[in-house]
Amino acid sequence: MEEKLIEVQNISKSYGLKGHELHVLKEISLEVFKKDRIMVVGPSGVGKSTLLHLMGGLDRPNQGDVLFRGESLFKRSDRFRSQWRNEHIGFVFQFYHLLPEFSAVENVAIPSMVYLKKRGLTKKMVLEKARHLLDQVQLADRALHRPNQMSGGEQQRVAIARALMNDPELILADEPTGNLDSATGEKIQALLLELNEKNGSALVVVTHDEKWSEQTNRLITMMDGRINANLH
Ligand SMILES: Nc1ncnc2c1ncn2[C@@H]1O[C@H](COP(=O)(O)OP(=O)(O)OP(=O)(O)O)[C@@H](O)[C@H]1O
Ligand SMILES: [Mg+2]
Repeated sequence: MEEKLIEVQNISKSYGLKGHELHVLKEISLEVFKKDRIMVVGPSGVGKSTLLHLMGGLDRPNQGDVLFRGESLFKRSDRFRSQWRNEHIGFVFQFYHLLPEFSAVENVAIPSMVYLKKRGLTKKMVLEKARHLLDQVQLADRALHRPNQMSGGEQQRVAIARALMNDPELILADEPTGNLDSATGEKIQALLLELNEKNGSALVVVTHDEKWSEQTNRLITMMDGRINANLH
């Protein structure tokens, strides 16, 4: 049995809009183990991104908790959660969230630029690794471009490279190949699968891309705020 990384415990999430409560997630529980490859599917608006954000400690549930190696995320401070995320989680946002004033290579490097001393790294080492990651997502020749000088698919690949910067144990990826042609999408998929195999990084991928379905060990289908998990 692999080590349990994440335990989602009975979380509910609603958004309050002027008396019209929108119950997006209803008492969802879910476990993620090392080496897992999980695919999350469901119709638009069902709450896939919301669930991923809660698992990454980016947003708070109204009820329930998320444990990482048995430790509560939501009983701790925002500061704790952002340090924890920086250290353990690679998050690929559906809409990338690159910093507009920085180049591609700087965007990729940012997660390692904090706690440089603690990690025993120099800026030069970090930028070298960022360039290597850009190369792995086929963007070596776009290193100095800013986000607004890149296509959507290029920005998506920068966001993926950034998520890999700190060798995360868990990669939470929201439609990571949604904006890519099929050949480029396959290369990105191969890169994520290789990390899963070599380092044991767990993958939770929200995707409509059929190519993922043969590659995952669990399929989570979301419907009406609940999940239905199947082993492949
Ligand atoms: N901050 C917010 N305030 C109010 N409602 C929100 C907020 N964020 C999301 N929602 C609503 O919550 C629901 C779930 O949103 P979410 O982004 O998780 O869906 P999704 O499954 O990722 O959809 P998609 O496939 O289109 O990306 C949607 O109906 C959305 O309108
Ligand atoms: Mg979404």
